[in-house]
Amino acid sequence: MASKIKVVITDYIEPDMAWETAEFAKRGVDFKYYQLKSASEAEVSAATADADIVVVNMVKITPSLIDTWKNVKLVIRHGTGYDNVDVPALTAKGIILEYIPDYCLHEVAEQAIALMFACARKVVWSRKIVDDSVKRGEWDFREIIPMFRMDGATVGLIGCGRIGSLVYKKLQHFGVKFLICDPYLSEKRRAALGIELHSLEHVMSNSDFITVHTPLNNETRYIINAKTLAYMKPTAYIVNTSRGGMVNVDDLAEVLKARKIAGAAIDVFEKEPPRADYPLLGLDNAIVTPHLSWYSEDAGQTIREKIMQDVDMFIDGTGPRCPVNPEAKKA
Ligand SMILES: NC(=O)c1ccc[n+]([C@@H]2O[C@H](COP(=O)([O-])OP(=O)(O)OC[C@H]3O[C@@H](n4cnc5c(N)ncnc54)[C@H](O)[C@@H]3O)[C@@H](O)[C@H]2O)c1
Repeated sequence: MASKIKVVITDYIEPDMAWETAEFAKRGVDFKYYQLKSASEAEVSAATADADIVVVNMVKITPSLIDTWKNVKLVIRHGTGYDNVDVPALTAKGIILEYIPDYCLHEVAEQAIALMFACARKVVWSRKIVDDSVKRGEWDFREIIPMFRMDGATVGLIGCGRIGSLVYKKLQHFGVKFLICDPYLSEKRRAALGIELHSLEHVMSNSDFITVHTPLNNETRYIINAKTLAYMKPTAYIVNTSRGGMVNVDDLAEVLKARKIAGAAIDVFEKEPPRADYPLLGLDNAIVTPHLSWYSEDAGQTIREKIMQDVDMFIDGTGPRCPVNPEAKKA
């Protein structure tokens, strides 16, 4: 491929594009960047029409936009989800979509573990107790009992892919036991991890902490619902850092209010940001974080490097590294 390929970034969340500008200059790449998140499709088209590679964060990549492209061969979505990109329209035009599923694996695993420990030690809920009891001139934590030792507890993993398996590896030295449900894990991967697999019902029924790490699809939507929540022990906690759609949040709120389970910690929402009447807000046995599991300064740099690596692999013909629609190459 000729060295003067053109890369266009349609929109970005980084403070500036100085690093990208320097890296693309080293490679002799014609590089342009924009902030077109709120722009018209005509403006996006004008910016991208003659690009070879389009890197997109939030801009909508629609069939009519794709129709205006003359040279685009690769779209890279800055992130793990790609709901803003019309994949069939790209495939029909022989354009590959790559995503970056592996820039924040440690962060999400660490967040899931942090939330499990926050539940176990009632870290977040203790704050209110301190505020309230100190105001009364007391020093009393009876309101947040009971707590149970994490050592010896059972952690249930639903989904043991990139992130679930990291949670498993990172928790090895905390004295916990594991129950794992992943009907699609390959036998090779299962054997390499040295784990046994169990049914969802068995994992939900016998775990003290359940953490969800599945992809969102028709099978997993609302996998946590009234029926599966009813399997849980009254002392058990559930953590969701995967996708909001995995949990029926009305069912979850009901079991939390009725104290049928001990608590929940949720980082992801079906609608983001959630509405002000989101049913877990204000519950004293729920922790809610604003979809930040992916975030660290380190992950922010890692995704920039991985996108650059994907461009390099496109230029030298060794890519695509993480294609969503590998069949597009043959289209
Ligand atoms: N909160 C965040 O900031 C954040 C950041 C990155 C990823 N995520 C989400 O984390 C989740 C896990 O990501 P990943 O990279 O580990 O995905 P992955 O594809 O590597 O692993 C998913 C695992 O779930 C298993 N699985 C599929 N269907 C299942 C089912 N019905 N029951 C049990 N297991 C099932 C698969 O076999 C696979 O092993 C995804 O939903 C992803 O979108 C969230």
